[in-house]
Formats: sequence, C-alpha cells, structure tokens
Amino acid sequence: MTFSIIGCGRAGTFFGRLLTPHLTLNSLVSKNLESSTRVQKRLQAGKVLSHIQELASSDFYILAPADSALEECISCLATSPALHKGQTVFHVSGTYSSDILEPLRDKGLHCASLHPILNLFEDMELPSSLYATLEGDTEAKNTIRDIFSFYPVTFLPIEKENKLLYHTALLFSSQFVLALLSISKDLLTTCGLKLTEAPLIQLVQNILIHMQKKELAELVVGPIGRKNHTLLSDELSNLSSVNERYAELYRLLSDQLSQVIETT
Ligand SMILES: NC(=O)c1ccc[n+]([C@@H]2O[C@H](COP(=O)([O-])OP(=O)(O)OC[C@H]3O[C@@H](n4cnc5c(N)ncnc54)[C@H](OP(=O)(O)O)[C@@H]3O)[C@@H](O)[C@H]2O)c1
Repeated sequence: MTFSIIGCGRAGTFFGRLLTPHLTLNSLVSKNLESSTRVQKRLQAGKVLSHIQELASSDFYILAPADSALEECISCLATSPALHKGQTVFHVSGTYSSDILEPLRDKGLHCASLHPILNLFEDMELPSSLYATLEGDTEAKNTIRDIFSFYPVTFLPIEKENKLLYHTALLFSSQFVLALLSISKDLLTTCGLKLTEAPLIQLVQNILIHMQKKELAELVVGPIGRKNHTLLSDELSNLSSVNERYAELYRLLSDQLSQVIETT
C-alpha cells in the first residue's frame, strides 16, 4: 500500500513514523518545505513536494495539517490529478468529522476521520498501542483497519455530531491537567518549596496507577473524601486571600468531586 502525508507537524510525523516501516510513503507536503524536508530526512522515505497539486497517486492520503488549514488543504487536494475513485483519505483532527471531506467524497474517495487519543510530540517514543476514534464511510473504516493491522490500535466508534464534545472531554484529561498542575506549582512556590515538579509528578502518577484498579469515587480522599467541611471552608477562605481565581476553581472542583462520591 502507498500513502502520502499532507501537513508535516507533530501528527504528520507521528503517522509517518508509525507507517513507513510497513507501507510505502510516496510524498510529503507541508506549508513550508523545511518541515516536509525535516520529516523526510527523519523517515528516510517519501518525496518532498512544494504543493499538494504535485502529489503522487496513492492508495491513501493522510491529512494532518493544523485544523485551521484543513479546509484549504481539502480544497487543494480535491483538484489534484492524483485522485482516483476508490482511494482513501482520512484526517486526524479531533474536532472535525468526516463531513468536512465532502469535496473528496464527491470525487469518489472513501473518507474518514481518525483521531489518536494521545498528545503527540515530535520527540516522543512511539507507544506500543493506541486508542483512536474512527468515524466515516464503511469502506474507509475497513481500509484503515487494514492499514493498521500490524499495530494494536483500539478503534472507538464515534458519531459525527459528537466530535466537538468528545474533543472537549479529552481536554479535561490532558491539557487541563496541565492547568491544574500550573496552579499547584505556583502555590507550592508561594509556600517556599524549592522542588515542585518531582513530587507533583509522583502524586499524579500514583493516582493514575490506582485508577487502573479502582473506581474514581474510591480514589477521592482528602477533605472531600472525608467530608471534612470545616477544613474545606478554611482552605477556601485562605486561598481566596491568596488568589481569587484559584479559589473559584477550588469551589467548582470540590463540588464536582463531591458529586462523584454522591452519584456512585
Ligand atoms: N499534536 C497532538 O497531540 C494531536 C493529537 C491528535 C490529533 N492531532 C491533530 O493533528 C492535526 C495537526 O496537529 P499537529 O499537532 O500536528 O499540529 P502542528 O504540529 O502545528 O502541525 C501542523 C502542520 O500543518 C502544516 N500546515 C499548516 N497549513 C498548511 C497548509 N496550508 N498545507 C499543508 N500543511 C499545512 C504546518 O506546516 P509547516 O510546518 O510546514 O508550517 C504544520 O507542520 C490537527 O488536526 C490536530 O487536531 C494532534
């Protein structure tokens, strides 16, 4: 099977690294030649192109540009002479559904959206398995399962209309964790602690390890788990005097955790 990558950032690099040992990478195209050239050198595969119009005909195309450039890339790809009926195309955006690929569907391509449930970084080690949501035409989904048959991907089906909410859900478990960690670090620094990262990493890792064996509600300890309302109220008023925004979050998050206990 042959494929081409459009958009040579973190996601394009990730899929290139995953697939090139098993399939033939025809071409790479990005906004800037430096990006596609960098990925080409890293993969030691594929031809660097300066425009989508120059794409070689491939069995499937991976659209991995920034979300803001996705529509533009689809319009360009739709006019490419490389396209043929029966080819497959998928984008990897977490928010858009396969509906955005309609101009390519009109050309007879099988279309899907495949979103890896992972924060991707250029220097990351490839994970030994992957969770991803998959949505689109039946033919495209079957082809994608074939493409990744060498690798343990758990494909989770998702309805098109739920993509936006799904992506929001993931933010709470990934990027928003960083927001909470930034508050922890800030407050620990205010308390005069010199070492803030290592103990926080251990704290989070410990919760995650136990999450594999226990229900969320069983992991709720501290003043909320013990329902110590006096301590909660003392902490809240003390925090309000330090930072009112943090105190507002403390209130909301405590309420959420209390609900987790009550509804279990
Ligand atoms: N990073 C993640 O953790 C992650 C996880 C799952 C899914 N995704 C999805 O992957 C997609 C890309 O995200 P990313 O994190 O890889 O972003 P990124 O690292 O910023 O890369 C985006 C790439 O898009 C390229 N690009 C922008 N405009 C283009 C155009 N008109 N034509 C061709 N290429 C263009 C940029 O090219 P230049 O470098 O040449 O300027 C850049 O390399 C998004 O849909 C995102 O939702 C990302």
